[in-house]
Amino acid sequence: MMIIASNWKMNLDRLSAEQLLAEMGSCPVSDKVSRIVFPSFTLIDLARTTRDHIGQTVHITLGGQDCHDAASGAHTGDVSAAMLVEAGCQWVLVGHSERRQNHMEHSEKVAAKTKAAQAEGLSVMLCVGENLEERESGKAEATVTAMLAASLPQQVDADKLAIAYEPLWAIGTGMTATPSDVAAMHQAIHNYLKDLGLKDVPVLYGGSVNPDNASALLALEQVDGVLVGGASLDADSINAITLAAEN
Ligand code: PGA
Repeated sequence: MMIIASNWKMNLDRLSAEQLLAEMGSCPVSDKVSRIVFPSFTLIDLARTTRDHIGQTVHITLGGQDCHDAASGAHTGDVSAAMLVEAGCQWVLVGHSERRQNHMEHSEKVAAKTKAAQAEGLSVMLCVGENLEERESGKAEATVTAMLAASLPQQVDADKLAIAYEPLWAIGTGMTATPSDVAAMHQAIHNYLKDLGLKDVPVLYGGSVNPDNASALLALEQVDGVLVGGASLDADSINAITLAAEN
């Protein structure tokens, strides 16, 4: 199963989100491909209605871009995992580098969010990645496995987990990791998860994925899908990436 995940970030208005989903719905997918869309909170309900209108067979599930680790309470501006479930989400992104950087979210917080989300029945897409300095000094794999170790809660449900490897220097920059670097990092992540007894956890690549580089990345046996930011906002691009996963 290949996962094509769209991270819309803080983009799109209601009309453009509806149009984009409709165009995604016109791209046929087999059971081999699963699509996940992560809209901003205010667009989740619209995305659900639009997706249901197109039909469940389009294999599009929805996710929140973040959640709080508490079930409820005095947390202005935050959204709980249960609220995401109620809104129709099956997934949540946690630990995205933009959250880690812009909201000082450390890995312990990410682990707490993962735990809270799985407790509500959500599947978690947990993001990890190294920065350029760590990559250039040969510390990428050590950095990523340490980040993963700290971001996983003690008890984690492997059936409700996916990892997104997103090198920070590749996000939104047009720079992509080479297929051999991606293969090596994904292998390290797969090995680490296996050592923990976490089986069959999909590992996705993210960072400037586009229709031109998607095929080479998706062809790697260590890659179970892609998490797409910028290119996911354009119907032709995300559909071309989806079709690359079919082949
Ligand atoms: P990008 O974003 O595809 O625009 O690099 C990916 C992400 O941040 O999830």
